Amino acid sequence: MILTIFGATGDLARRMLFPSLYHLHKQGRLPNDLEIVGFARRELSNEQFCEYLSDEFKNLYGNVFNLESWQKFCEKITYFQGDLASEADFQRLGKKLAEADTDLQSCTDKIFYLAISPDLYPQTFSGIRKSQLESICEHTKHVRVVVEKPFGKNLKSYYELNNNLIDIFDEEQIYRIDHYLGKETVKNILNFRAANPLFFNDWNKNTIDRIDVKVMESLGVGTRAEYYDEYGQMRDLVQSHGLQLLSLVMSELPDELTADKIRNSKTEILQSLYVESMENDVVRGQYGSGIIDGYPVKSYKEEHEKLVESNTETYVHIKAHSRLETWEGVEINLISGKRMQSKETSITLHFKSQERVKGIPSKNKLIFQLQPSEGITLDLQVKKPGLNELEVVPMVFKYQDNFRVLLPDAYESLLLDIFKGNKSSFISNEELEASWKFIDPILELWNTENSRPVIYPAGSKYLQIN
Ligand code: BG6
Repeated sequence: MILTIFGATGDLARRMLFPSLYHLHKQGRLPNDLEIVGFARRELSNEQFCEYLSDEFKNLYGNVFNLESWQKFCEKITYFQGDLASEADFQRLGKKLAEADTDLQSCTDKIFYLAISPDLYPQTFSGIRKSQLESICEHTKHVRVVVEKPFGKNLKSYYELNNNLIDIFDEEQIYRIDHYLGKETVKNILNFRAANPLFFNDWNKNTIDRIDVKVMESLGVGTRAEYYDEYGQMRDLVQSHGLQLLSLVMSELPDELTADKIRNSKTEILQSLYVESMENDVVRGQYGSGIIDGYPVKSYKEEHEKLVESNTETYVHIKAHSRLETWEGVEINLISGKRMQSKETSITLHFKSQERVKGIPSKNKLIFQLQPSEGITLDLQVKKPGLNELEVVPMVFKYQDNFRVLLPDAYESLLLDIFKGNKSSFISNEELEASWKFIDPILELWNTENSRPVIYPAGSKYLQIN
């Protein structure tokens, strides 16, 4: 199996992909025959490339670095100097990949991972097409392509990009990654629902009143200002991570957890979403200066000279509903922001309050906590000792307390899925199309001349929706 990473010296490859591959290597979980080809523009030898990767790795995870195993890991890696704009370089790559097959006398699996800025996708697709890398093996199932988010900038550009992609690859070859789907709590959602009858009956409008999906970060845009300013919080987080979490938690529990069934179920949710009033049910914010953890932080506009006049949103709150009868009337809140008071990613289901026994209104909440520490909490009401009053108490499950293992990083888990050809944690074309269709009208509205984000102080907890 040969994994070619385009953009091998970039941020994603260096900070996420190679460290995940090394962790897997250390645990002996990589396919035995895996070879990794790092494709990037700089002039580097194999040794220099590996050193470059190890510097970053030591920076991030110095405590788990082991020279001997790192050297073994490096034996799997070949650096390939190439330019994504050069057809000749793609041809050279094709030849190199084919050589490995000649040695083995069979066509080994080839995976092409596009760890590059979305702007470079079209030329990369064109390079792949012209050098026929997609059909480097006779059977298409031996060749896979992995694309990152955001895939497109709006519905129109998504269609254009996707047409390029499906023109080259069959759907079964395409892995659309969203790293949130690799997080342990997220992978657990359907299992948890299926394995606990308390929850699989009446997981709908009869018992659930409101669903909140929050993806909050205290970080600002940091060094990614130029990329971020073009995409904003809506495309960078809501269209992808936020909607994926929502569709997973609301999806009809399939009778088998197969990739097709899971993805169809999520598509049904995504296609059913709507916003009642664009004016009242959508908030768009941008952080001003403020204080986080006691330290002053700059406003978004001050982060980079190119942002001075920017209207890009760093905060989004959408109040939505579903057209499906099962979810009729249930309020859905998608909230995501940068430079908020603290990092918090969670999905909260608020159960309906009922008064089955006079004077005792019910109140339950189920929270899937992804960050800061992964787990599930169920809020229950109990009688306070000695008093005739109720109090809400949490029943808490934390991975670190129950399992005492280091949770696999999301990318580790997704890379293993790609190697095995398991698509259940990857986004289908239909899901992606439905996500863009849902947010496109909001983006269009924001594109109008007088539309401006509300400025909020960095360190805010949330912004008020009307
Ligand atoms: C990425 C976004 O997909 O997710 C970033 O591009 C964001 O802007 C990041 O910071 C958050 O990921 P995580 O796993 O730290 O919640």
